[in-house]
Amino acid sequence: MKSIVLTVVLLLCANSLLFAAGGVKKKRPRAYDYGQVIIDNFSTSSGLSPVTFDHWTHRSKYTCRLCHVDIAFEMQAGATEITAADNMQDYYCGTCHNGKTRYQNQLIFAACDLTQKKSAAARCQRCHLPAKDPQRKRDFYAFIKGLPAERFGNKINWDKAETAGLIKPIDYLEGVSVKQESLPVQDDFALQAKVKGMPNIIFSHKKHVDWNGCETCHPEIFVGVKRGSTTYSMIDIFNRKYCGVCHGSVAFPLRGCQRCHTEKVQ
Ligand code: HEC
Ligand code: HEC
Ligand code: HEC
Ligand code: HEC
Ligand code: HEC
Ligand code: HEC
Repeated sequence: MKSIVLTVVLLLCANSLLFAAGGVKKKRPRAYDYGQVIIDNFSTSSGLSPVTFDHWTHRSKYTCRLCHVDIAFEMQAGATEITAADNMQDYYCGTCHNGKTRYQNQLIFAACDLTQKKSAAARCQRCHLPAKDPQRKRDFYAFIKGLPAERFGNKINWDKAETAGLIKPIDYLEGVSVKQESLPVQDDFALQAKVKGMPNIIFSHKKHVDWNGCETCHPEIFVGVKRGSTTYSMIDIFNRKYCGVCHGSVAFPLRGCQRCHTEKVQ
């Protein structure tokens, strides 16, 4: 019985890996495109190209928490409904892309400016990208040299890169973040896979907190008052809920089963 359940779940999992809803075969994103978000609520309708946002360039510099909690970007493409006016008032992308803020002593290029469309076209096109820019791919391969490799996603083991100090994501921006008392971090624990033969999952609070703080997960994704209070399955995760909010689009993808299902089967 158990093995029938496992087979069915595995088939469903394989199915969601290979096919998008509607049965169209999904294309696996290239390493440099993994974590890319196309934002187009207003651009095309304003006669501009959609905005291309790359996670790899940004997550190597800043934590997830800084952007998704302090700056308040939604964890869903298009959901924040960013406008040019927001950016010009130093919100969202304009928190950093305002022509005043620096990263490692370099001024970060500014975002939208509705007063000077033509003369600033080259700058506009860095975000309102008209077509695929081959330079991004070259920058990506230059960036990953010397970083610990991984099979899937960006083909970078971000976790090891951070632990080894090869990247040092910033978690605090003056005037944007609020200094907080850090909360005690819970110990690692095992999540039951509940199916015989499927290794349990070891979940590390410590490693997640480095990137995410507490508020990216609690209370929206996991209520988290007591372990086991949220019930979900692998299918939910494939449907981009729970662990699947991040794993599958930005953090390492779900086809790396063994990175989560690590506990030895007795
Ligand atoms: C510099 C800011 C920034 C950083 C750092 C950042 N993100 Fe994002 N993230 C965004 C923006 C902007 C979007 C798109 C939001 C929108 O379109 O409304 C986004 C979208 C997402 C999405 C939805 C993707 C999709 O395809 O729908 C996920 C998941 C996500 N981020 C997770 C993460 C995780 C995990 C990290 C840390 C490893 C992280 N982000 C770091 C800015 C950031
Ligand atoms: C927390 C600060 C921060 C936020 C928020 C932020 N960026 Fe950036 N971004 C940077 C820094 C730093 C760089 C690298 C420095 C540079 O190129 O000037 C960068 C580089 C870029 C680049 C050039 C490199 C690349 O990825 O091709 C683009 C395009 C870009 N950002 C788009 C965006 C968009 C679109 C948003 C909002 C949806 C955004 N950024 C939000 C800090 C930020
Ligand atoms: C750092 C990234 C970035 C740069 C550079 C940038 N924009 Fe934007 N812009 C955005 C984002 C993100 C949106 C929201 C995209 C969407 O939902 O379609 C946006 C939206 C817009 C819109 C849509 C209409 C509106 O009122 O919101 C206009 C018009 C616009 N930008 C003009 C410009 C112009 C002109 C420039 C060059 C001077 C420029 N932008 C440069 C990020 C950028
Ligand atoms: C990546 C997501 C994530 C982050 C970030 C995170 N947690 Fe959790 N937390 C979880 C999950 C998953 C559980 C187990 C929930 C369940 O089974 O219902 C949990 C459970 C808990 C529990 C209950 C533990 C138990 O043994 O019953 C507490 C307390 C908690 N988290 C506190 C925190 C605090 C404090 C932080 C920040 C320092 C934090 N969490 C950051 C995902 C996260
Ligand atoms: C808020 C976003 C988010 C959620 C939700 C989340 N993760 Fe992660 N996780 C990350 C990021 C970011 C990393 C760093 C590695 C990367 O980006 O590939 C990571 C790393 C990991 C790692 C490797 C580090 C380690 O502990 O050895 C494992 C395993 C993992 N996650 C399992 C899980 C499981 C299981 C869940 C659900 C209970 C979960 N994650 C939920 C963002 C998230
Ligand atoms: C990001 C972490 C993560 C990855 C990657 C992952 N899983 Fe899971 N998986 C989980 C968690 C967490 C549970 C337990 C859910 C619960 O509490 O019951 C689970 C449960 C399961 C179960 C038990 C039945 C069920 O539906 O809950 C099966 C079977 C399973 N996973 C198969 C897979 C396969 C096959 C892959 C690779 C294609 C995979 N998983 C990749 C986190 C992950």
